[in-house]
Amino acid sequence: MGTKMTPFHLTVTALVLFLFSTTILVTNSLNIALNDDVLGLMVFKADIQDPYNKLSTWNEEDDSPCNWIGVTCDPYSNRVTELHLPGFSLSGHISKGLLRLQYLHTLSLSRNNFTGLITNPILTQLIKNSQFIDLSENGFSGSIPDPIFVQCGSLRSINLANNKLTGQIPDSIASCLTLQNIDFSSNQLSGGLPKNIWSLTSLRSIDLSNNFLDGEIPHEKIETLFDLRVFNLSSNNFSGELPDKIGECLLLKVVDFSNNYLVGTLPESLQKLSLCNVVNLRGNYFSGEIPEWFRSLKSLEMLDLSVNNFTGLVPNALGDLESLKSLNLSLNQFTGELPDSLGKCVNLSVVDFSWNMLTGDVPGWVFGLRLKGVSLSGNRFTGNVEFGETAAGFESLEMLDLSSNLFSGVIPSSIGNFSRLVVLNMSRNSLVGSVPSSLGGLKAASVIDLSHNSLNGSIPNEIGGAGLLEELRLENNFLIGSIPDQIQNLSDLTTLSLSRNNITGVIPVDIAKLTELEYVDLSFNHLSGSLPKELSNLTNLVTFNVSHNELEGELPLGGFFNTIPLSSVSDNPSLCGSIVNESCPGGHPKPIVLNPNPSHSEHGSTSLNMSHKRIILSISAIIAIGAAVFIALGVIVVTILNLHVRNSINRSAAVALTFSGGDDFSHTRSPSSDYGKLVMFTGDAEFVSGTHALLNKDCELGRGGFGVVYWTALRNGRSVAIKKLHVPSMSKCQEDFDREVKKLGTIRHANLVLLEGYYWTPSLQLLINEYVSSGSLYKHLHEGNDENTLSWRERFEIILGTARGLAHLHQMKVIHYNMKSTNVLIDCSGEAKVGDFGLAALLPSLDRHVLSGKIQSALGYMAPEFACQTVKITEKCDIYGFGILVLEVVTGKKPVEYMEDDVVILCDMVRGALDNGRADECIDRKLKGDFPIEECVSVIKLGLVCASQVPSNRPDMEEVVKILEMIQCPCEGQEEIE
Ligand SMILES: *[C@@H]1O[C@H](CO)[C@@H](O)[C@H](O)[C@H]1NC(C)=O
Ligand SMILES: *[C@@H]1O[C@H](CO)[C@@H](O)[C@H](O)[C@H]1NC(C)=O
Ligand SMILES: *[C@@H]1O[C@H](CO)[C@@H](O)[C@H](O)[C@H]1NC(C)=O
Repeated sequence: MGTKMTPFHLTVTALVLFLFSTTILVTNSLNIALNDDVLGLMVFKADIQDPYNKLSTWNEEDDSPCNWIGVTCDPYSNRVTELHLPGFSLSGHISKGLLRLQYLHTLSLSRNNFTGLITNPILTQLIKNSQFIDLSENGFSGSIPDPIFVQCGSLRSINLANNKLTGQIPDSIASCLTLQNIDFSSNQLSGGLPKNIWSLTSLRSIDLSNNFLDGEIPHEKIETLFDLRVFNLSSNNFSGELPDKIGECLLLKVVDFSNNYLVGTLPESLQKLSLCNVVNLRGNYFSGEIPEWFRSLKSLEMLDLSVNNFTGLVPNALGDLESLKSLNLSLNQFTGELPDSLGKCVNLSVVDFSWNMLTGDVPGWVFGLRLKGVSLSGNRFTGNVEFGETAAGFESLEMLDLSSNLFSGVIPSSIGNFSRLVVLNMSRNSLVGSVPSSLGGLKAASVIDLSHNSLNGSIPNEIGGAGLLEELRLENNFLIGSIPDQIQNLSDLTTLSLSRNNITGVIPVDIAKLTELEYVDLSFNHLSGSLPKELSNLTNLVTFNVSHNELEGELPLGGFFNTIPLSSVSDNPSLCGSIVNESCPGGHPKPIVLNPNPSHSEHGSTSLNMSHKRIILSISAIIAIGAAVFIALGVIVVTILNLHVRNSINRSAAVALTFSGGDDFSHTRSPSSDYGKLVMFTGDAEFVSGTHALLNKDCELGRGGFGVVYWTALRNGRSVAIKKLHVPSMSKCQEDFDREVKKLGTIRHANLVLLEGYYWTPSLQLLINEYVSSGSLYKHLHEGNDENTLSWRERFEIILGTARGLAHLHQMKVIHYNMKSTNVLIDCSGEAKVGDFGLAALLPSLDRHVLSGKIQSALGYMAPEFACQTVKITEKCDIYGFGILVLEVVTGKKPVEYMEDDVVILCDMVRGALDNGRADECIDRKLKGDFPIEECVSVIKLGLVCASQVPSNRPDMEEVVKILEMIQCPCEGQEEIE
């Protein structure tokens, strides 16, 4: 019903006016025959929402409402006496219409969505006139106003349970002398019990459970409640003791004071409750023993004394409670053995004695009765667990918890006979022997926990028979053998814990079929082989711990395994993958796979017949790789930053060592002395000593990934550059260091910075280099002003010189490893000299850790294969770096430039421009005067080929040199280039 004024609405509005206005309007549309009941109910209906049209039979045209749904009339007067609308999904407020129903004595609106304050005067009126009111399970709110019960009339039953009522229970309720049933449970009522509440001597049932009521339970006059059957004050904040005369309420069937703060011992009067079915005192502070007179509670079906401070023995007397079905004495301080007498309680179904201090054997009745649930956990029971061969429990038991006791011996194979067992927990005992294969007979089991015992042998294949298993825990035993393939039968398995055993073999691939798996712990075993890739299909995984095993090979990729914590895979010497920071041997074939033109010969680019089409083909692949590389770089940079912090801590110690000046070292010193050893490859070294500290901060030339460079002069006036290597990263032993440096010392080429000598002590290593006067190419490109910018010819010569230097290095089988413009120096005649080469060979191994120190500075020059997990560094990496350097020289732009909110990757930018036929627009704008644009474009193309994503597409340096020479001399190679 919307807000539209339907004819129905109009009529109702008229009715309301008719009912409540002082001037009575009578219109023709009104049916004069309507009685008050029809009017009242139509008004009631008009004010509520009836989304499912349950009140469709309520028709204003009818003479009588007696056939309407939910309406009951007195057969003689035909007046409405009862209104039952439970669970009609009605909502809204209760309107005045109901007041017209003068004969209404029963109102049930339970399980609807009625709201509003309970202060509504209509309710006051209803309470006055009715006998039964049920407003439970609605949304009534507010507090119950005190006067509401003053005129109680003949109210017999009031149920306000499950609403949102607050405040106190009005004292006025004590005036409802006819009241038999009070249910105010599950509200938010507070305060104490109403004064004189026990003067309501007609009470049969009082339920105030689940509120915030507090204070003591009044003792006076409680014995006058001779008709009381249900007494439920559970889940409140009541304190003090139980009324000692509570047992005088002889008809009590249900006594529930659970979850309060009650203290004291059990009042003796309780023994009179021979009709009582339920005694629930759980969750209080009751103390003392269970008295022998408890046997007189003959009708007891449920006894819950759990979570109290009861002490003493579990009395024999309980055996006389022949109706007992459920007995819970858990979490007390009961001692001694379980009485055999309980075997007489043939109706017993659930027993819980957990977490007491009980001792002795498990009595025969535990498996001899047809129990459904048995919990003996957390006691000091001893002996073997024996079920017998024909135990009645085989047919009935659903829950068996014997955990955390002192049980020993083997698990009987008859355990497989518990055909209905859902939960089996025998963990934390001293059980020995094997895991019985009969467990496969637990067809209904969802939990099996045998962890923390001393079980040996292997996990039986038959476990696959427990097809409904969700949780299997066998951790902390001495199990051997492998994980059975049959585990794949357990398709509901969510938890598998086998950690801390001696399990061997591989992890079965079929585990990946158990898609419900959430918690898997296989740690601390001897599992070997590799992790099945298919494991990444387990989409519900929360934990997958395989640490401390002997696994090898690559971690699965994707899904949970992308974010698996290191601690879950640690201590497996041969596992590899990015998570464990171990590259996998053989590396990733990805860059090769992405080769846009795989059939192209390795050296296809030799003649540089790089067609336009080919670039287009590769462009999307390049973008994809570029993006991936960029992300990977980000990850690496973060890792490096971390390592960097660590390194700098180490380093500070080394930096504190100052070099002790020229006097102290000469090449005649013994290598073993603390002073170290100086080796010069180029004749004699006479440092200017005394006058000049060798490593003078003022003479610092620059800093690189491998160390700091200082300028100093030899006695003959010649300058040298001394590189002080970062000690922590240069941990090679002296012999290796000697060998590698000597190899570098033999390399001589006009375009390579000459290594003149070195100095070695365990804590300080210096490389003595030729000094190149005009600074780095980087400085010339990016730090000079526009006036002295390099000309095209100079740039070309630098490129060519660099290429020649690099080609020579490669000829000598040395990988530069760190090509970038800061490592290309320019001498006074403008000749390029490549420096800092081969230093990587001085490092213990080319591992990631070592890479890390430089990647930051080399960002943008780094070949994409670095970003992959392989660290297979070949000359092709140098060629990539060279290609970027070429682009840098031609465009005058850094390999990676950070704009305000953008990152420009030089080679992507140039590639894009070339692709759009606008390569010339990339050429450095600072270049002045006449220069051959075509030559520039050819060099750009060469740079791009060198910077190919696919290593095999990059030419050799010798080829590069040839191509450059051809570019320089158009007569020979022009066609080939285009
Ligand atoms: C009561 O209303 C809530 C939302 O206002 C709705 O989700 C719920 O189903 C309703 N209950 C009944 C019994 O109609
Ligand atoms: C088995 O009982 C122990 C306590 O004795 C408990 O810690 C463990 O969680 C239980 N196992 C299962 C699967 O619930
Ligand atoms: C595994 O399941 C299959 C089919 O449900 C069944 O035939 C087989 O017996 C089961 N394996 C075990 C060990 O129970």
